[in-house]
Amino acid sequence: MAQYNIAVIVGSIRKDSFNKKLANALEKLFPADFSFTHVRLDDLPPYNQDDDAHQAASVLRLKGEIKAAQGLMFVTPEYNRSIPGVLKNAIDHASRPYGQSAWDGKAAGVIGTSVGPIGTALSQQHLRNILAYLNAPTLGQPEAFIHNKEGLYNADGSIGEASRKFLQGWVDAYVAWVKAHA
Ligand code: FNR
Repeated sequence: MAQYNIAVIVGSIRKDSFNKKLANALEKLFPADFSFTHVRLDDLPPYNQDDDAHQAASVLRLKGEIKAAQGLMFVTPEYNRSIPGVLKNAIDHASRPYGQSAWDGKAAGVIGTSVGPIGTALSQQHLRNILAYLNAPTLGQPEAFIHNKEGLYNADGSIGEASRKFLQGWVDAYVAWVKAHA
């Protein structure tokens, strides 16, 4: 029986997203008492402060899923050395109205994969800055900058041998982080 629900926030809405694939593979490394809710970002309107008093149904759904979760797992690409706009849009939506942020106090883990060798390092650094402001305690170590290259996955989509120990270590640290903050 799942005790801890993790809101999985993938910063790419691309159908064949490498980050979505990474999120799915990581989930298999968690213990049985963890379950996952993939939050949707693709139907959120562009954030507009004028709408704070009457947020769209998709925004209320997002906030409800974040509030109901014991942890947040951000799996995001790097776009132009920062986070994708769709992710920032979602973060802004769920942070408002002022004083009613859904992010407050939620244990976060940040990871991502990119086709470039720096493996989303700068995107993650920008995301950490935002999460610090939003008071979402974020796992510091290990950092995980994943270069999307040959051999990262097995044919069934699970993490391949070369990266398995490292990524299991990341998941184990994140699991302990979520439990410590639940
Ligand atoms: C990229 N990409 C990229 N990669 C990187 O390592 N650093 C970067 O700054 C950028 N910038 C960037 C901007 C834009 C607009 C796009 C579309 C792409 C490449 C990126 O890593 C690649 O497209 C990944 O496949 C995106 O992740 P998903 O969609 O596969 O999860």
